[in-house]
Amino acid sequence: MDKTILLTGSAGFIGFHVSRALLERGDSVIGVDNFNNYYDPKLKEDRNAILEKYHTYKLYRNDICDKDGLEKIFSTEKIDAICHLAMYAGVRNSIENPNLYLHVNIEGTSNILELAREYSINNTVIASTSSVYGDNPIPWKEDQRVENQVNPYGVSKRAAELLAKANHKLYKLNITMLRYFSVYGPWGRPDMAYFKFADSITKEEPIDVYNNGKLRRDFTYIDDIVKGTISAIDKPQNFEIYNLGNHKSEELGYFIELIEKNFGKKAEKNYLPMQEGDFLENFADIEKAKKDLGFEPKTSLEEGLKNFVEWYKEYYKIC
Ligand SMILES: NC(=O)c1ccc[n+]([C@@H]2O[C@H](COP(=O)([O-])OP(=O)(O)OC[C@H]3O[C@@H](n4cnc5c(N)ncnc54)[C@H](O)[C@@H]3O)[C@@H](O)[C@H]2O)c1
Repeated sequence: MDKTILLTGSAGFIGFHVSRALLERGDSVIGVDNFNNYYDPKLKEDRNAILEKYHTYKLYRNDICDKDGLEKIFSTEKIDAICHLAMYAGVRNSIENPNLYLHVNIEGTSNILELAREYSINNTVIASTSSVYGDNPIPWKEDQRVENQVNPYGVSKRAAELLAKANHKLYKLNITMLRYFSVYGPWGRPDMAYFKFADSITKEEPIDVYNNGKLRRDFTYIDDIVKGTISAIDKPQNFEIYNLGNHKSEELGYFIELIEKNFGKKAEKNYLPMQEGDFLENFADIEKAKKDLGFEPKTSLEEGLKNFVEWYKEYYKIC
C-alpha cells in the first residue's frame, strides 16, 4: 500500500533524491525544509521545483527547531513514516559554529522524536554519519564503541543517536539510524570536496588538497544511498544503526584524477597539511546493512563521478 512519508530536509541533496524515488514509486511525501543559506539556496529551490511537479508532494517551509510549526504539520497530515534528514552537515562549518550544530541536530531531532511519540508514528529513519566513528580504527563497524568523535558535527550526530535510542527504550518507538559515508552525485552539496573541485576546475582556480591527497574515503554514490534509505523505511526495526557506505576506500588523489578526466582539464593544486578535526580514512563495514536491509552498493567511483560531472556541466551550462 502506498505510504505517506514525512521527510525533513527534502530540498537537500539526499532528501531530494530520496523524496523523488519515493514519489516515483507512488508514495506521498510531506517535505519539511527551511531552505537555509548554508549553501546556495537556489540549488535547494531548483531541487524542490522538481519535487513540486508530483501531485503527491507537499512542502512545508518550516524549521525543525520550531516545534509549534512542526506540531501543526503533524496534526494536519496523516503520516505513516518519518525520514529525518534535515540537519546541519559539514565538518568544517561545525568547528566554526558548534552551537548551531548542537541546536539543530540535537534539539531539532528531539522535536521530531517527541512528535513521533505524540502522534504514534512507529517508523522513523534518521540520518547519522560516519563522522561518529572519529578516529576509531577501520573498518568502521556498528558494534564499535563510538566515543572518539573529532569534531562538533560528529558529536551532535552521536548525541542524536543516543537520544533516539533513549526514545526507543522509553516509548518503544521503532527507529533506524543510518550512518552515511561520504555521499556524492548529481544535485550534490556545494560545500563538499568533489563539488568544490568541480567549481575550481571550471573557474581555473587552484584546488586545496589536504595531506598531499593522502586521505582515503569510502565514497558512496547517491543512488545506492537512496536504495538503502528506502529499504530502511520499508523495514522498520526496533532500534538499529546501519552503516551505508560503498565498502571501498579510495585515495583522494585518484578521486581528483577522475574529476579532472571528466572535465578534460588538469587542476592546479594547492597542497596543504591535514585539517584540524579531519580523519585520514573512513571505510564502512556494511555486512549488517546487507543482511537486514539487502543493501548492495553497485556504483563504481568512475561511473558515479562521470554522472556527477555530466550533471554539473548541464546545470551550470558549461560546454
Ligand atoms: N552528504 C553526505 O555525504 C552525508 C554524509 C553523512 C551524513 N549525512 C547526513 O545526511 C543528511 C542529509 O545531508 P545532505 O548531504 O543531503 O545535506 P543538505 O544540507 O543538502 O540537506 C539538508 C537539508 O536540511 C535542511 N535543513 C537544515 N537545517 C534545517 C532546519 N533547522 N529546519 C529545516 N530544514 C533544515 C537544509 O535546508 C537542507 O535542504 C544530514 O543529516 C547529514 O548530516 C550526509
